[in-house]
Amino acid sequence: MSLQDDFQGHIQRYATRQFDWNAFPSNAGYPELARAQMRMIGSGGSPKNGDTTTLRPEHFTMSLIYKEPGKFAACHAHEIEEAFFILSGVLTVGWESEGEVVEVALGPKDMILNARDIAHGFRNSGIEPVMLSVMVGAGKPLPPRYLYHPKDTSAELAAAFGAQPGHTHLLTSADELPLRELMARNVIRYDNQKTHWLPAGFGRKIYVGEGGVKATTVRKEMFLIPPFVGVRPYCRDVEEAFLVLEGHITVGWEEDGICVEQQIGPRDVILTPAGRRHYFRNNELTPVTLLCVIGTAQPNDIQFEAQS
Ligand SMILES: [Fe+2]
Repeated sequence: MSLQDDFQGHIQRYATRQFDWNAFPSNAGYPELARAQMRMIGSGGSPKNGDTTTLRPEHFTMSLIYKEPGKFAACHAHEIEEAFFILSGVLTVGWESEGEVVEVALGPKDMILNARDIAHGFRNSGIEPVMLSVMVGAGKPLPPRYLYHPKDTSAELAAAFGAQPGHTHLLTSADELPLRELMARNVIRYDNQKTHWLPAGFGRKIYVGEGGVKATTVRKEMFLIPPFVGVRPYCRDVEEAFLVLEGHITVGWEEDGICVEQQIGPRDVILTPAGRRHYFRNNELTPVTLLCVIGTAQPNDIQFEAQS
């Protein structure tokens, strides 16, 4: 396969992907649970892992979830950690343990890392749809284990993620609940995270990894790239994905002095496999923000160099 074809085969464009309203068969017949999934890398929490149109996952999956106001996702748990990153709207996430639920409302560019085996649900209590990126820390996660699905429990209990009346707590409350403290350590708000500006001319905001929530599977960072800033080709020993949030970025691969590149925009994804030399550059007048997912929990070992 040519370098160009291989490169093209690792890009997903938001505009040409489809949302799947039937990605989660367990929701069929429960309109209150309706949500749509756009699979970008692997299949995520959906059992539709035969979808060959997605990018092949290694250490993580990435998908977009769309949820309309008033809809929720029943409380469930995974054997592996799962991150929610909000693209638009406000998402309320609840964690449950022994009938007590802690809730937090997340806005654009906020993230929660749903810890391994922690029971979690979410809902859209706002007035606009929510779009979020879901990233599971395994290439092929097991199906979720539902704990308070409306098919097994009352509609009220399911909608409250398993909390009886009076047993829902806010993350901001002063309750001395171990669950509240655990959640507080796993919420990353954009406005609370410092941006580290690098000599190469762009900023890194660490969500998961050194300086953010402790990474146990993969790291997640935001890159803030001013106009006309780019980096020389670099190479990782694991895969790396970019999900563009704002602006348009030129991404490229380099092999034996030959470069192939393309500009991608909001909600587009590129997955660069381990061992592939690659680079990025902002050729436009508007700044770029993108979410970068790196397929390891090991600390950063890349020294970025500005493109001359
Ligand atoms: Fe989940």
